[in-house]
Amino acid sequence: MARLLEGKVAVITGSGRGIGREEALLMAKLGAKIVVNDLGAHFDGSGQPTDTPAQQVVSEIKAMGGEAVANGENVADFKGAKRIVECALDHFGKLNIVVNNAGILRDRMIFNMSEEDWDAVIAVHLKGSFNLARHACEYWREEHKKGNVLNGRLINTSSDAGLIGNVGQANYGSAKAAVAALAIIVDKEMQKYGVTANAIAPIARTRLTVDATPSTAAIMGQQPKEGEFDPFSPAHVAPLVAWLASDDAADVHGEVFRVGGGAVWLMKGWHTVGQVSKRAVWDAAELGRALKAELAKGITAKEDMGRILASVLQG
Ligand SMILES: NC(=O)c1ccc[n+]([C@@H]2O[C@H](COP(=O)([O-])OP(=O)(O)OC[C@H]3O[C@@H](n4cnc5c(N)ncnc54)[C@H](O)[C@@H]3O)[C@@H](O)[C@H]2O)c1
Repeated sequence: MARLLEGKVAVITGSGRGIGREEALLMAKLGAKIVVNDLGAHFDGSGQPTDTPAQQVVSEIKAMGGEAVANGENVADFKGAKRIVECALDHFGKLNIVVNNAGILRDRMIFNMSEEDWDAVIAVHLKGSFNLARHACEYWREEHKKGNVLNGRLINTSSDAGLIGNVGQANYGSAKAAVAALAIIVDKEMQKYGVTANAIAPIARTRLTVDATPSTAAIMGQQPKEGEFDPFSPAHVAPLVAWLASDDAADVHGEVFRVGGGAVWLMKGWHTVGQVSKRAVWDAAELGRALKAELAKGITAKEDMGRILASVLQG
């Protein structure tokens, strides 16, 4: 039986470590040729760029008989992102799949956040995801016009920090909410070219949740005992991404999934859950009373990270 991603070519950004590395290893195992992109930076994006993490993952893929090439471009650089797409075309002759996964963190409370902390995080997550989507979609559209249907797949990496909000992550959460929206919009624009775009919100033990975030490190940082189920292994994320990247997921459009610990949650974004209305201009105080009555029904109740992590632990 053919493997799920046999003959496909995938770019996975930030795949030198963590979740992206697991995605690269699994997708290579399932038959895809991989561009392992990673800048090799510190978790806050600082430090000298190095393609060592990307090279290591390429070596792992080659050791198991797969095909991969390392790429050390910065996803936040528009021209650099174009070179990532060209790297796939030069080495493997085509591109089917883009996984926007590269990420950094610079957590600060809003009143302490510097302009640089804001710009750096928005640049990697939001502009980086746009950059790859932009160049890949231009290529997929051109190829489609020539009659070459590549079943393009875009998978953006969002986060609960953006979908439900998290303290200290105004820069990161804003970018992550936006990359989910970006997937939904790209999907609407690119459906006619045979492309799907979806987003995932992973939960996994990586340096972003252990070294960079003390609040999650306490729960997620602990290594399981030998032979025990590991709810926070980043390996739990990869099967969803591999499936979304496959031809089998051709009719999955503009969806957002939370994934971790063997669970996949189907998420639903902004949608109407209640309404107050009057065929006249409201008196402000009267409108307030009507809205309070509606809100009291609990229909906008918020999820929180504590409950989500507890449910990953409990299975
Ligand atoms: N770990 C979690 O629980 C979690 C939760 C929600 C979202 N995410 C998201 O998952 C993705 C992967 O993160 P991770 O947890 O595996 O962290 P990680 O730090 O292990 O991996 C991120 C990788 O991205 C690379 N990178 C950073 N900036 C880059 C750039 N400009 N260009 C190219 N590569 C760059 C880094 O070098 C690193 O290897 C990120 O987008 C992150 O925000 C993770």
